[in-house]
Amino acid sequence: MTNKGSLQAGNNLDPWYHHYAERAAGLKASEVRALFAVASRPEVVSLAGGMPFVAALPHDLVTNAMSKVMSEQGATALQYGSGQGIPALREQILDVMALEGIRANADDVVVTTGSQHALELVSKLFLNPGDVVLSEGPSYVTAMVIFRSYQADVDHVPMDEDGMIPEALREHIARLKAGGRTIKFLYTIPSFHNPAGVTLSWARRLEILEICRSNNILVLEDNPYGLLYFDRPAPDAMRSIEREGVVYLGTFSKTLAPGFRVGWALAPHAIREKLVLANEAAVLSPSSFSQLVISEYLSTADWKGQINTFRDVYHERKNAMLAALQEYLPELTWTNPNGGFYVWVTLPDRLDSKGMLPRAVKELVAYTPGTAFFADGAGRQNMRLSFCYPTPENIRVGIRRLATVIRGELDLLDTFAGTGSLAPAPDSERFAAGAPNIS
Ligand SMILES: Cc1ncc(COP(=O)(O)O)c(C=O)c1O
Repeated sequence: MTNKGSLQAGNNLDPWYHHYAERAAGLKASEVRALFAVASRPEVVSLAGGMPFVAALPHDLVTNAMSKVMSEQGATALQYGSGQGIPALREQILDVMALEGIRANADDVVVTTGSQHALELVSKLFLNPGDVVLSEGPSYVTAMVIFRSYQADVDHVPMDEDGMIPEALREHIARLKAGGRTIKFLYTIPSFHNPAGVTLSWARRLEILEICRSNNILVLEDNPYGLLYFDRPAPDAMRSIEREGVVYLGTFSKTLAPGFRVGWALAPHAIREKLVLANEAAVLSPSSFSQLVISEYLSTADWKGQINTFRDVYHERKNAMLAALQEYLPELTWTNPNGGFYVWVTLPDRLDSKGMLPRAVKELVAYTPGTAFFADGAGRQNMRLSFCYPTPENIRVGIRRLATVIRGELDLLDTFAGTGSLAPAPDSERFAAGAPNIS
């Protein structure tokens, strides 16, 4: 017997090709993921990934919490738990959210396997094929992968240095409604945006909530970076203003460590009930062990002091990145984040960040091309640079290499097209003059 029959049904690489559900077509390897393999080579300075610098977390804080959990609650830690999460941890999560102005009830918190899983569960509950999710343009890559895997379309609303532009949101909603489309929710990362690095102003938070309220659109507020501010805190969370129309997502990945895989959703009561059922269907219960260790850590360690340590580390690295950009690539424009992990860079319009990437990797520096952050192919002129993981010295080396790549690329274009050099942009187009050019 040959396998000819099954090969005919599939293709040369995958005999099951024609068996997959339609939604699997949305599951494509992201550019970030493909880059991790290349960028993890030690000689490459990676400004591509978004890995927290967990070395700044003293390991004994975690080891102490782990041993106490195992000696005092070992049987519970090793057992299945509740689909909603451990009550004590849900109470402590209220203290974390209170730092961003949120007042809530522990009963409305659902612990998830990272906030990534909360994104998946919310999408599963709300998205039908053909629905629309509104999001900033650019937006978080792996949220868009989920939305597309539920066969929803992502509609990008432009941003500027104060975050999503309310007027543009109004226009997009009107256009989509006129076209008979169903908008299921607005997905937003209001504080220290991934990838844009900007923060939605307080006035815009109010306005965007009002627009969504009057159009009956749920807001999915994703806030992994809110506590990692530099000079001044971000405005309070959108959930602090609006209770019924917002599902809020938080995580311990950036303020503690992503290896625990513990995040949460805070949802209006009816949605919360469905989220628990969806969580149980997906994982039975989030990890009891991780939850208890985090709960112990929050009770005994100086967790707020540790967040300050992370802030200082990332602040120093952000400064190193901006100083290096100013020194080596003053002609470009970039955002100046007041927190989080990312700087969004705009290249001269003749350059294509995706096409340039192989040359950058050859020069031993990696970044994420802007196209990764748009569902519609935009972003060729942009790149996301992460300052969270490399040391300040390596960031400097990385930006110097990037400058070599960009100059080389422009020289090449000059040679073949005779189209000018990297002339300084007019002041009006520079970020320093307040025009970060995000869209
Ligand atoms: C905007 C955003 N949302 C969600 C996540 C997922 O985080 P986790 O699942 O580790 O909580 C990330 C991770 O980088 C992120 O940047």
